[in-house]
Amino acid sequence: MPTGKRLEDKVALITGASGGQGLAEAELFAREGARVVLADVMDAPGKAMAAKINRRSGEAMYVRLDVTDAKQWRQAIDRVRRRYGALHVLVNNAGVVSRAGIMDVASSDWRRTLDINLTGPLLGMRAAAPLMRDSGGGAIVNIASTAAFVAHFGAAYVASKWGLRGITKTAALEFVDWGIRANSVHPAMVIDTGIADGAAPGFREINERVLPRGRAARPDEIAQAVLFLASDESSYMSGSDVVVDYGYTSFAVARIRNQLHKEYASRARPSTRRAASRRSRAGARR
Ligand SMILES: NC(=O)c1ccc[n+]([C@@H]2O[C@H](COP(=O)([O-])OP(=O)(O)OC[C@H]3O[C@@H](n4cnc5c(N)ncnc54)[C@H](O)[C@@H]3O)[C@@H](O)[C@H]2O)c1
Repeated sequence: MPTGKRLEDKVALITGASGGQGLAEAELFAREGARVVLADVMDAPGKAMAAKINRRSGEAMYVRLDVTDAKQWRQAIDRVRRRYGALHVLVNNAGVVSRAGIMDVASSDWRRTLDINLTGPLLGMRAAAPLMRDSGGGAIVNIASTAAFVAHFGAAYVASKWGLRGITKTAALEFVDWGIRANSVHPAMVIDTGIADGAAPGFREINERVLPRGRAARPDEIAQAVLFLASDESSYMSGSDVVVDYGYTSFAVARIRNQLHKEYASRARPSTRRAASRRSRAGARR
């Protein structure tokens, strides 16, 4: 009998599922009825989450998978085929950050970032798509970043995420006749993740001053968008970029400008203060 769960009868593989957002996606997908394959190179947390899901009468397994290794991808997909006989959802979530600029980035850092963040999803889609086709189609969700829309101080990171945004559209084109949709998700800063927690002191506070209402996302807030794209609720979406950033890329600059107008008005002489305040109100309306 149908349970009304949003991923009922679906098999979903999530990479980078031992940490931050991947872990939140695994838990949410299992709650929504998916059989979840957690893949990562950090075994202990992935195995623990798979066991937790199974204890709660869900269905999950952990596979060790370095996303940069084509052979490990083939082995992982073979295991999914043997265990579940199908695959409907692939979430390419595993990723690392590199915060060095063009003048500083070491070539080893450049290669590692592109290998994990861009080549990893390429290998994943190549390995998984035939099984998804044989399963009647499905959904690929590639986790990119707002760094695929605007400048980012990390040269390798921005290159990897703009690249991932691009190949997501190629995937949408290439797999459309197999009934496979492909979309990308673009979060701004997400706290309670290895990537945010590993940043230098002050990084989080500085970023939060730029984000609307000073608020970074929680992993579960991004997972909700990923769930929508993984489920049949997004059946008419393919090749889309879904920005989940609380307005960071669309209005954060305008908001900061309005604040600066207010600060200027409060410092200015009474006559200029009235004019600046009029401009600030006009700016807020533009
Ligand atoms: N945290 C943020 O602020 C933020 C913002 C925008 C986008 N993102 C993206 O979100 C995704 C998830 O990252 P997160 O924020 O949860 O960080 P995280 O560090 O908590 O999770 C990343 C996971 O990827 C795994 N991983 C790393 N290299 C791997 C490899 N070679 N093979 C398999 N797994 C590997 C790690 O072990 C970890 O579990 C990444 O693609 C990241 O670029 C993060």
